[in-house]
Amino acid sequence: MCGIFGCITMNGNASPIIHASLKRLEYRGYDSVGIATINNGEVAIKKDQGKIDEVHELINLDDMQGNVGIGHTRWATHGAPLKENAHPHVDCTGQIVVVHNGIIENYTELKTELENQNHKFVSKTDTEVIPHLIEETLKKNPTSNVTEAVVETIKRLSGSYALAVISSKEPNKIICARSESPLVIGIGEDATYCASDLTAFLPMTNKAVMINDGELVTLTPNNVEIRRIQDGAEVTRAPTTISWTPEMAVKQGYPHFMIKEIHEQPGILRNTLRAQEHYLDLLSTFLDRATEVFFVACGTSYHACLAASYMFSKLAFLPTYPVYASEFVEQHGKSVNIDSTILAVSQSGETADTLGAVTCSQQRAATILGLTNTVGSTLTRVSRVYIGQQSGPEIGVAATKTFTSQLSVLAQLALKLSTKRGKVSQDEMDYLADRLEALPETVQEIILKQEENVKKLAHKYKDAKIFFFLGRGINTATAYEGRLKLMEIAYVPAIAFPAGESKHGPISLIEPGFPVVFICPRDGQTHKTLVGNIQEMKARGASIISIIEEGDEEIKSMSDDYIEVPKGIPEVLSPIPFVIPLQLLAYYMAVEKGLNPDTPRNLAKSVTVK
Ligand code: F6R
Repeated sequence: MCGIFGCITMNGNASPIIHASLKRLEYRGYDSVGIATINNGEVAIKKDQGKIDEVHELINLDDMQGNVGIGHTRWATHGAPLKENAHPHVDCTGQIVVVHNGIIENYTELKTELENQNHKFVSKTDTEVIPHLIEETLKKNPTSNVTEAVVETIKRLSGSYALAVISSKEPNKIICARSESPLVIGIGEDATYCASDLTAFLPMTNKAVMINDGELVTLTPNNVEIRRIQDGAEVTRAPTTISWTPEMAVKQGYPHFMIKEIHEQPGILRNTLRAQEHYLDLLSTFLDRATEVFFVACGTSYHACLAASYMFSKLAFLPTYPVYASEFVEQHGKSVNIDSTILAVSQSGETADTLGAVTCSQQRAATILGLTNTVGSTLTRVSRVYIGQQSGPEIGVAATKTFTSQLSVLAQLALKLSTKRGKVSQDEMDYLADRLEALPETVQEIILKQEENVKKLAHKYKDAKIFFFLGRGINTATAYEGRLKLMEIAYVPAIAFPAGESKHGPISLIEPGFPVVFICPRDGQTHKTLVGNIQEMKARGASIISIIEEGDEEIKSMSDDYIEVPKGIPEVLSPIPFVIPLQLLAYYMAVEKGLNPDTPRNLAKSVTVK
């Protein structure tokens, strides 16, 4: 989730405008930054790793000449946050310059093809194939212009992109295009802009044109031309006048980052489904060989690990041990050894407890694998192999989109290992792969249909002094996560247990009106027993709130309140859709109480002390 920006002015230099605009996009990524301009037919580029202010201090991003330019602020996905991986990227001649946000899925094939045609690559990014493809297209069709070459190039890309291209061959334009990644155009008095979101240009203009998937835009200082990529047809779209304040714009009009990030989940899950095959393959090979596997993490990431232990057991027949990182050294520090494999899961990649467990395991010669949202973090440096979860920066302190994307990567990994081990029938594998692909839509539907219902639920239960969350099997993890979200954001004490455990003690708390949330997927073995657990609670006067599949009349009839998710979700994937209503519940409970869900008291986004 990087930020891209482009600017072409009638008068004056573009670079200070680009620099200031990238600062406003810095929340989208901040591990490296770069700007390219064209002046007197020459391309100039400045880029480096580090935060924008740090890079600016070193190489002054404001003194570049030229009225046309593009810039990028990066959140690493392919390739570590190093200078050579920072955007903009160029072709072999240095005349075609590209910034890109998104993921090019087929970049390895394209890169091999281009290398065979003698193109030289300097970065590890997927983006770098784009300028080389444009160059190659122009080489093969010398009568084409850059725009035509961009169109032909785009037709060869699969994946997601918002990209902006400039070229010294045709210096008075910016060409940009979109597929799945956001792109918006700004129309100023004496300049036009393109950006990942309108926050970037809002201080200059409030006239914006939203670009749709499959559209290509050519910007000149006083004109914006939009065409459909597929057939070249011109698109007429009047600019919208934006009334957002800059503060509202950063949150895309949402009142808080947390709700924005909850809403981002369908898109993020699509990104995550593009988790790199190569790394999935490598990681699953390590797991396949392992004698004992520990999943180590804290908080929400631990819940992802707990769910993953069910996935690996059910799909790949691999027993794994999810362990709280803060307990790992005490519990396993003496026994972990050269035959142990540690998969450390950490959104930030900097959590002290997780790194502590990793260090202890490393000293005892265990194999360290990593799953993180922060490529370049300490975890990526200490892991033998790591995989990025592709969620983009999460600003709300409570983990939401990063939880579902961790689950998505872990499910893909379990499926990969299952295929390797030949443990599950091809039909079942195909079915699960299909359902996994459909999850972004499923999550979208839940948000669309159920947000208002959850809001009402939060209003109804806003004064509840305590909550119970119960689930069985893999959804024990969902119950734990629902409880953590409610506690940390809305400050409501909450208890979570595997539903079968409640009668071994916790049920004694139940008295009339006590809210109990049940997570009830239809698929799998847990449904029947859950019905019994609900009855036990109901008999003692609890208020039953169930998260059920559409058409689950049995549980619906026993519930005081229910939230429905779409039918046909395989149990092994169910934590992803079933956690969405729980995230929304925590959010709206906090809002009902007048709390700011983005900054819960006493908590920090990255916990770097033990
Ligand atoms: C809860 C939350 C925390 C983190 C935990 C681990 O919403 O955000 O519980 O999950 O501090 O952080 P990472 O994943 O960065 O290691």
